[in-house]
Amino acid sequence: MAVYLDDVSRTFGEYLLIPGLTRKECTPESVSLQTPLVRFRKGEEASIRLNVPLVSAIMQSVSGPELSIALARNGGLSFIFGSQPIASQSEMVRRVKKFKAGFVVSDANLTPKHTLTDVLALGAQTGHSTIGVTDDGTANGRLLGLVTSRDYRIETDAPETKVAMFMTPFEDLIVGSLGITLREANNIIWGHKLNTLPIIDGEQRLQYFVFRKDYDSHRAYPYELLGRDKELLVGAGINTRDFKERVPALVEAGVDVLCLDSSDGFSEWQAETLEWIKGRYDVPVGAGNVVDGDGFHYLASRGADFVKVGIGGGSICITREQKGIGRGQATAVMDVASARDAYYQKTGYYVPLCSDGGLVHDYHMVLALAMGADFLMMGRYFARFDEAPGKKLTVGNNFVKEYWGEGSNRAKNWQRYDAGGVEALKFEEGVDSFVPYAGKLKDNLAVTLGKIRATMCSCGTLSIQELQANAKITLVSATSIVEGGAHDVTLRE
Ligand code: IMP
Repeated sequence: MAVYLDDVSRTFGEYLLIPGLTRKECTPESVSLQTPLVRFRKGEEASIRLNVPLVSAIMQSVSGPELSIALARNGGLSFIFGSQPIASQSEMVRRVKKFKAGFVVSDANLTPKHTLTDVLALGAQTGHSTIGVTDDGTANGRLLGLVTSRDYRIETDAPETKVAMFMTPFEDLIVGSLGITLREANNIIWGHKLNTLPIIDGEQRLQYFVFRKDYDSHRAYPYELLGRDKELLVGAGINTRDFKERVPALVEAGVDVLCLDSSDGFSEWQAETLEWIKGRYDVPVGAGNVVDGDGFHYLASRGADFVKVGIGGGSICITREQKGIGRGQATAVMDVASARDAYYQKTGYYVPLCSDGGLVHDYHMVLALAMGADFLMMGRYFARFDEAPGKKLTVGNNFVKEYWGEGSNRAKNWQRYDAGGVEALKFEEGVDSFVPYAGKLKDNLAVTLGKIRATMCSCGTLSIQELQANAKITLVSATSIVEGGAHDVTLRE
């Protein structure tokens, strides 16, 4: 006979936190959001800890290099999507690892043969007024000159004037050599009253620009997630099909952590992949997704360094409708957390949990952490930002960003949903959609983290571990949820 679970499958919107005593030292600035990313033994520390408990989803419309850089600079971590060729995924990892605060790879470049019209078009397309002039028009070509808005006058210069005629030629430029530190670059900028310092290698190839306006940038990112060589940390998604080729390439590119990406990870495929990687590499590997203790135990005991929880709760996900599998995200997190705690008691290994998908309001994040998640994976949340790969469009009078599921026809990430079998029988488990455009990641994250810290202060807790140990959580009725919003008043707007 089938097994019937007694508990109802519930989600975060059905719960609230009850405040604890807020001691005087409980202020938002004193709250630590540090959290372990990978397994560790009792009495030791995790080898990788996040400075804020947020990671971005392994999705084409979310985790490209730009978002990965922005998120790591703000203390979280991205997993670069695996539904792309191995070479391009590795290149994205390399871009994040090569990122140096204050050193910008030029993304507006032309050759001397281009014209003023091309300069204006490129400026409009990229939003940059500094253009690198290289022999082949690429970001790393031989540097021949520089164009800024001070080099031409739109009113008087003919549109067909060649760049060679008005650029500042290389001979007149002050440049820095590759290997220079940010402090040294800034000294040159200030000493020569420059706005931009091109950095070149021994063959005069352009490598970076350092801009005067970025002088203070490192001070603006106190939570930066850095590795041993002060480079940003980055993760990458992998699948159970081509791991023997993909993992070596990602490791070679410098990836810090991997994550098996599947809508249903309770499988022998994942066990086999974990075993293969663990036998050859030191790189930590997360696994999932699962929604109960059995799934957790299976993956944890096969060496998973963290376990991802969630089936069917994602905003773009239609897995529950298509396959009838899944579980309310709050119930799944609570159940897996109690299995994780039991595993810790029994083995002495703490295996962090990642709650993946279905977080709609900022307060859901605190609930997920209080229920036992160590960090949270989100897609919709990050897809709204400038740094996400989706296009920014207008729909009606509103700006939106594209956001499509990995199981949609657009992404065609069939490995994530693969159960073997005939290609022709594949069906969609995700949708292609828009989300409201929200601006820069840093600005939005600051508001979200502010709310998380404020809630933790209300609960009288100064760390995620304290929150997990002491939170008081209550189930709420549908009527009290209505009471939680503005009601019985006429809103003025
Ligand atoms: P969100 O934060 O609610 O938008 O959920 C993001 C999560 O949904 C991802 O991290 C994946 O686990 C999951 N996901 C991504 N694409 C799909 C899909 O096409 N179908 C089902 N789930 C998906």
